Amino acid sequence: MLVAITGTPGTGKTSVSELMEAEYSVIHINELVKKKEFNIGTDEERDCLIADTDKLTEHIHSLHKNMRDGEVMIVESHLSHLLDPDLTIVLKTDTAVLIDRLKTKGFGKSKIDENIEAEIMDVILVESTEVCKEVKVIDTTKRPPEDVYRSIRTIICR
Ligand SMILES: Nc1ncnc2c1ncn2[C@@H]1O[C@H](COP(=O)(O)OP(=O)(O)OP(=O)(O)O)[C@@H](O)[C@H]1O
Ligand SMILES: [Mg+2]
Repeated sequence: MLVAITGTPGTGKTSVSELMEAEYSVIHINELVKKKEFNIGTDEERDCLIADTDKLTEHIHSLHKNMRDGEVMIVESHLSHLLDPDLTIVLKTDTAVLIDRLKTKGFGKSKIDENIEAEIMDVILVESTEVCKEVKVIDTTKRPPEDVYRSIRTIICR
């Protein structure tokens, strides 16, 4: 099963996925996108790489195909829901807490504003609901990554 962990930046995708590495195969898409073959250049305005989602989808599914039946692969990124997963888990966080987390990550004001607006508008959840087979939501506002991990595990093992 291919499981996408997605959500607005700062909702805790990487934090929980790092914990999951002990039990599951985990792919951090942001690291892959740094490789030339998986990006189509730089978004100068946002100062970030533009992911090639077609190439990423092809790559992830070819890795997943080589896994044993029933084995779980986790892909984490704010665009992982676009990679045709079997199950999508959208992490959500309340505004005040998310602002603090984004500040801790060193984001500037305009980047914080853009991401808070996206979170309030549920951009990733709406997109996931439109394109994914099955979508679950976990609120990480008051729950540490260990707790979020347990919830994800319960969903995967059900
Ligand atoms: N469940 C949580 N409870 C409290 N703090 C958290 C939680 N998850 C993550 N954090 C903190 O929030 C910040 C952002 O977490 P993280 O980098 O995992 O988010 P992300 O969703 O991977 O963001 P990005 O999309 O930018 O990669 C970090 O400082 C992290 O320690
Ligand atoms: Mg991350």
